[in-house]
Amino acid sequence: MTSATFRNAPLRLQDLETFSNDVRIAIDQYILEYLVFPCNDDRQTLTESMVHSVRAGGKRIRPILTLLAYLLLDASPIKIIPMAAAIEMIHAYSLIHDDLPAMDNDAIRRGLPTCHIAFGEATAILAGDTLNTFAFELLAKQLPLDFPADRCLSAIATFAEACGINGMAGGQMLDLSSEGKALGADHLRHIHSLKTGALIRACFTLPGILTAADQATMTQLSALGDAMGLLFQMVDDLLDEIGDYETVGKAVKKDSQSQKITYISVYGMTETQKKIESQSELSHDLLRHFEGRPSDLLRDMIAYLAKRST
Ligand code: IPE
Ligand code: IPE
Ligand code: MG
Ligand code: MG
Ligand code: MG
Repeated sequence: MTSATFRNAPLRLQDLETFSNDVRIAIDQYILEYLVFPCNDDRQTLTESMVHSVRAGGKRIRPILTLLAYLLLDASPIKIIPMAAAIEMIHAYSLIHDDLPAMDNDAIRRGLPTCHIAFGEATAILAGDTLNTFAFELLAKQLPLDFPADRCLSAIATFAEACGINGMAGGQMLDLSSEGKALGADHLRHIHSLKTGALIRACFTLPGILTAADQATMTQLSALGDAMGLLFQMVDDLLDEIGDYETVGKAVKKDSQSQKITYISVYGMTETQKKIESQSELSHDLLRHFEGRPSDLLRDMIAYLAKRST
């Protein structure tokens, strides 16, 4: 694989760590350029609250996946950066709202005070709302500079679905309403597929739409995104149970306290660890459909997602 540059900064493809760091720098720069503008009134606080939540040490897994999925289809990953940034904005908004007292009621995220602790609940709600709308504003303005209008419309519609009632927001509803209920494996799979899976699946399908991939490739992208999204959330559930508070940067053992339905509550610890192994194998198998295309870093990403401690 060759490397690219984004606004004179490198996007080096030599190994996953180097690439991930370069993507983090590019995405942070891109998002902050969008969010930070002079306000001479109290909207300054709203800007600061969004910057606090976007900037605060996220792993940027979704942008990294989006760029890696795009590289399976097109050698020039720069064009997908606006899409990757928009996905990260939606992710940041979803976390701000996820942490609110009315939802998971968390005070620490990425080792820092959550948005509502730092800025108050009303500002945190508005920070989420504003990031949500910024993401779509950014896409409507930037995507048509690099892709034909029909593909942009289709990508934006698919992205909106992934964020809405049949995606992240719907999954969050089901996650909250599951608290305290004795639900089984089918419910668990459904909730995870929506609350986290939809956005991670979109990291794979949106590059497909924007490059006009054929139907067979779209199906393979969707299956791979689905598998990796579930792998991601299985480990999130595991880390809630056995993770180290300092390392994960958020409260642990919250899911059991809130009586959430998680991989741990449905399968227990040992079985969850086995399922992570088999989900990782499934992801590797699905990635083999892309043999002959640049997929080494995605292979390393699967290994990282299965073993991560943060
Ligand atoms: C945490 O996501 C929230 C879930 C969707 C489970 P990440 O683990 O990707 O969070 P950051 O962005 O790296 O903090
Ligand atoms: C959050 O899931 C999912 C979304 C924000 C869409 P969790 O509630 O499990 O995330 P953490 O564990 O608080 O990061
Ligand atoms: Mg939650
Ligand atoms: Mg939470
Ligand atoms: Mg969690």
